[in-house]
Amino acid sequence: MQDDPLKPGYNFDAHLVAGLTPIIEGDELDFTIDRPNGMKGYILNLTSKGEGTLFSGDQAINVGPGDLLLFPPTAAHYYHRKADSVCWFHRWVYFRPRAFWHDWLSWQDEQHGVYITRGLDQTTVHHLERLFIDIEYTAKSDEPYRSDLSINLLEQLLLRCKSLQPDVVSKPLDPRVIEAMNYMTQNLNQDFTMEMVASHICLSPSRLGHLFREEMSMTITQWRDDQRISRAKQLLVTTNYSVNQIGRIVGYTDPLYFSRVFKRKSGVSPKRYREQIT
Ligand code: FCB
Repeated sequence: MQDDPLKPGYNFDAHLVAGLTPIIEGDELDFTIDRPNGMKGYILNLTSKGEGTLFSGDQAINVGPGDLLLFPPTAAHYYHRKADSVCWFHRWVYFRPRAFWHDWLSWQDEQHGVYITRGLDQTTVHHLERLFIDIEYTAKSDEPYRSDLSINLLEQLLLRCKSLQPDVVSKPLDPRVIEAMNYMTQNLNQDFTMEMVASHICLSPSRLGHLFREEMSMTITQWRDDQRISRAKQLLVTTNYSVNQIGRIVGYTDPLYFSRVFKRKSGVSPKRYREQIT
């Protein structure tokens, strides 16, 4: 049994182990980390200096500073210093996740079961590296609550990593979509048509429809109904207006249609909603 996690034979039988592996050409750590069956837990790996090579043959990928890897338990580990790089220093955290982390542990790009995020800028790398270091030192300290604290820091690190994923990064909305939303919010009680919204922002209705769906991942009608229903909910609990009046105030001339949409979106009728809350 090995008590150094940097050497083969260490038993990773803990919930969290973190370290820095400083591989220098010809040094005692200059070997291939080869775990064909993966590990029991996840590994997060950040290159801090030099370059490494992941996988072999024509699957080989080189990683350097700014590249981040996440190995789920089933992914095979096969990595070493890149042949022509004098060193490969990488920081890593081994951990057994809590169930609610599930969503944070799948990233956009994956190769042979390993998630990869490349080309992070220096400031981001610096920030992430700080967390890796804090996790390692907190876990190894004799502070009270060191285990909870290091898990808490790991949660921050995982959230930061997930936030960097291109499919999570929030990009600013197209100003025309914002304008369409403003128009609809201001005219919520009116029976406006899509043509009216589109002409307000000088787009064709079909172009607006596409753009809106692309940016908001829902149709304009869904968005408008969501707004109307949330306004109706507010009025149901803060005023004494009748259900029909509220339907009209939020833009539904047909009370039956209002009740139908309300029920579809909230699971209960407007009347029941009011009773439940008040
Ligand atoms: C060390 C490796 C490191 C990581 C941990 C779990 O031995 O150097 O890359 O795989 O094990």
